[in-house]
Amino acid sequence: MKTNVLTSVAALALLAISMNACTENKSADGTATADTTNAAIENIMTRTSVRQYQPERSVSRDTIDTLLRAAMSAPTAVNKQPWAFVVLDTREQLDSLAEVLPYAKMLTHAPLAIVTCGDMSKAIEGEGRDFWIQDVSAATENLLLAAHAMGLGAVWTGVYPTTDRTQAVQERLGLPATVIPLAVVPIGYPATDNEPKDKYKPENIHFGRW
Ligand SMILES: Cc1cc2nc3c(=O)[nH]c(=O)nc-3n(C[C@H](O)[C@H](O)[C@H](O)COP(=O)(O)O)c2cc1C
Repeated sequence: MKTNVLTSVAALALLAISMNACTENKSADGTATADTTNAAIENIMTRTSVRQYQPERSVSRDTIDTLLRAAMSAPTAVNKQPWAFVVLDTREQLDSLAEVLPYAKMLTHAPLAIVTCGDMSKAIEGEGRDFWIQDVSAATENLLLAAHAMGLGAVWTGVYPTTDRTQAVQERLGLPATVIPLAVVPIGYPATDNEPKDKYKPENIHFGRW
């Protein structure tokens, strides 16, 4: 009996917490708007790609460690964690990668980049192998959100599945053939104010069925 009461109290507390995170407010015109008073929701909704960084301001080892811990907190299919991360923080390493990535030239003035990779030696075998892409994508998004939460700016630059970019990054970084680079994420303290884009479109949502 006592256990039942305790269970109910715990369930109500959890419900209250989740309702707090998901409540909706009415704006002046009466339309419902997402409540961004919750810090985590606010962080998700204000993240935006940052491609210009303060020169001379480096990122500390502790901060890099937090970014990597956030990345590795992502969910993965069958909890395989089929990933590896390459941290680049010297001018030579960053410039070398910029040479082979036409859409990642911001590397030449970033103090840091993290390359998010899939490690095929840890991936699911057979039909489920490609779940690694979703797993490493989730880690990459966690990295972007953690960077934003710590006052950093970052941008996802795509590598895989473009064959020439994938091979070029593998060669420049000396990756084993079993390690596939998914994205290069240049990171630094933002040099400019960056407004998040409003991408919310109600027509993208279908309740119940199409
Ligand atoms: C898979 C993927 C690949 C991307 N590749 C690049 C890239 O090569 N270079 C770049 O500057 N931005 C790249 N971006 C960033 C997108 O341009 C950006 O996320 C998009 O314009 C939306 O802007 P936001 O991030 O500010 O919301 C990529 C994003 C994703 C998810």
